[in-house]
Amino acid sequence: MGFFERVGDRVVGAPSILAADFANLAEEVRRAQDGGAELVHFDVMDNHFVPNLTVGPVVAVSLVRATSLPVDAHLQVERPGSLIPAFVEAGVTSISVQPEVTVHLHRTLNAIRAAGLEAGVALNPTTPLEFLEWALPYLDYVNIMSVNPGFGGQEFIPRMAEKVRRLREMTDVPIQVDGGITEKTAPLMVEAGARVLVAGSAVYRGDPATEMRKIIEAGRRAAETHNG
Ligand code: DX5
Ligand code: ZN
Repeated sequence: MGFFERVGDRVVGAPSILAADFANLAEEVRRAQDGGAELVHFDVMDNHFVPNLTVGPVVAVSLVRATSLPVDAHLQVERPGSLIPAFVEAGVTSISVQPEVTVHLHRTLNAIRAAGLEAGVALNPTTPLEFLEWALPYLDYVNIMSVNPGFGGQEFIPRMAEKVRRLREMTDVPIQVDGGITEKTAPLMVEAGARVLVAGSAVYRGDPATEMRKIIEAGRRAAETHNG
């Protein structure tokens, strides 16, 4: 069973390694894992869709070998379809693509699933949820971006909590949130219906185990209060 299929109503934390020390990636992931992280968020950027340039399948191969956690690749690239075989080969367990630059979304999502991985879509802050309507049957998770993709350390966009709430009304698909997630903003997103909390700078600006734990616990408290 895939990671997102298993999440159910649990709140889980995923460190974004974009904010980690890339010279010590395995150790940085282990530190967040000590704080309760259950998934690694791996940001791939191409200097076309976003101005930044990060890492690709070669680094994913090494990281998958070095960690016991599942690795989730967030492809912030044009033409993601051509990169999917290499990420499958690398051993990541899920891949999300940006529909703004994925011309054949149905084909791409099906290719991810056909390889036995979970398929996700990540939406820019102003991309409407209606974009998802015809893609929902082929999706295992949705990433609601709460900053513009491209960089870590940006300011959280508060209106994205309302977007999560609307998506929750549309579907039961697990919702991941990504961008500006901290122990202060995580509860807003969890109350709205998010369950997978991606955090980069908030985890790595301090002791990653402590900071990861604070975010997960803040999210879980919000879920309990909200449900009970
Ligand atoms: C932004 C990336 C995020 C980023 C989040 O393009 O998709 O995953 O690492 O970083 P923070 O948590 O610092 O906003
Ligand atoms: Zn991301």
